[in-house]
Amino acid sequence: MAMWVFGYGSLIWKAGFRYDDRLVGFIKDYRRVFYQGSTDHRGTPEFPGRTVTLEPAKGEVCVSSYSLSPWGVAYKIIHKEDQEIALEHLEVREKQYDKKAYVNFYTESSVSTPAVSSVMVYIASADKKLNKNYLGPASVEEIAVQILKAEGPSGLNRDYLFKLENALIQIGCEDNHVNDLSNEVRRMLFLQGDFSD
Ligand code: SIN
Repeated sequence: MAMWVFGYGSLIWKAGFRYDDRLVGFIKDYRRVFYQGSTDHRGTPEFPGRTVTLEPAKGEVCVSSYSLSPWGVAYKIIHKEDQEIALEHLEVREKQYDKKAYVNFYTESSVSTPAVSSVMVYIASADKKLNKNYLGPASVEEIAVQILKAEGPSGLNRDYLFKLENALIQIGCEDNHVNDLSNEVRRMLFLQGDFSD
């Protein structure tokens, strides 16, 4: 049986494993939020960065190309050996995400039947007992300052944000939360005289 994995963050622009198909689409009843602390990729234990997670949000809908539901990509992995390698890779890469969920994946907003069922997705929950790195909500300014300053083994936190912004533009589905944060980080960079981003 084929395995499907939904990516809504870095998995959109970098799978890191072999796959047989890649579909653009969305899942329902969640919102993509920069609420997860990252001490292993885009920050350090001393200064955590922020990466995206999914927050339950019943009834989120898509509004034209600006979406409230999280759009991303679903990867199909057919061969058993590839599935094992992909899982091994993901279990390390997503180790600060404490939950795996199996969700319906849709490719068209107007169609209520999922294109694929039981698509695996990694989620960092808001349960501080299970997920000690969870940071939760903060103002756009506060999150932007943290993203601006953080850096970890995988690189600058702001590059993660800008890559996500760009990846969502590439798949034709921008996200207001990601856009607001990107614009705020760019504004802060401009104010500090850094015109490179
Ligand atoms: C994902 O991409 O689906 C999970 C979050 C991340 O690794 O950025």
